[in-house]
Amino acid sequence: MSTSTKSIAIAVMALSMMAACGGGGTDAASAGPPGAPTLEKETGGSKAKLLTEADVTLGDIDNGMAEKGKTTYDVKCQACHSMGENRVVGPGWKGITTRRKPEWIMNMILNVDVMLAEDAEAQKQLEQCLVRMPNQNLSMEEARQVLEFMRTL
Ligand code: HEC
Repeated sequence: MSTSTKSIAIAVMALSMMAACGGGGTDAASAGPPGAPTLEKETGGSKAKLLTEADVTLGDIDNGMAEKGKTTYDVKCQACHSMGENRVVGPGWKGITTRRKPEWIMNMILNVDVMLAEDAEAQKQLEQCLVRMPNQNLSMEEARQVLEFMRTL
């Protein structure tokens, strides 16, 4: 009699342990997927970051700013962009500020992925160049200095 009581106790313990494992398994499975929704959220957020005309104001050319922009150009842009009209990997920058609106240029620098996904003019460039410009991770200030440098070309 005491033997059967013991086996019932063991059976109950075994069952509750199985239940615990089952519960753990479910938790682990539900912890897997959250990567996908997060990615969607990030893409949605970056769309809102595109600058509009009101975000970029131009005055007389500021030579100090343009010089800093030239330094950034030398380090991060020169490999793909010439200061002339010729294409290297990307288009040459001569006269770019007469072809393009300032905010469009700033968006190409700061948000190239969104531009290549959504902007027809950017997509046309991609068709010609066949290379996607990689985001150079410039700050807003650095991008603005590069724009100032472009105005001198
Ligand atoms: C690895 C090569 C590469 C580098 C480095 C690069 N770009 Fe580009 N860029 C491109 C390509 C290619 C395009 C054309 C669009 C495309 O195909 O993605 C482009 C397009 C542009 C345009 C639009 C040009 C136009 O005439 O419409 C701007 C503005 C620009 N890049 C700015 C920059 C700045 C600023 C830097 C440096 C901070 C930089 N790029 C670094 C490859 C590059």
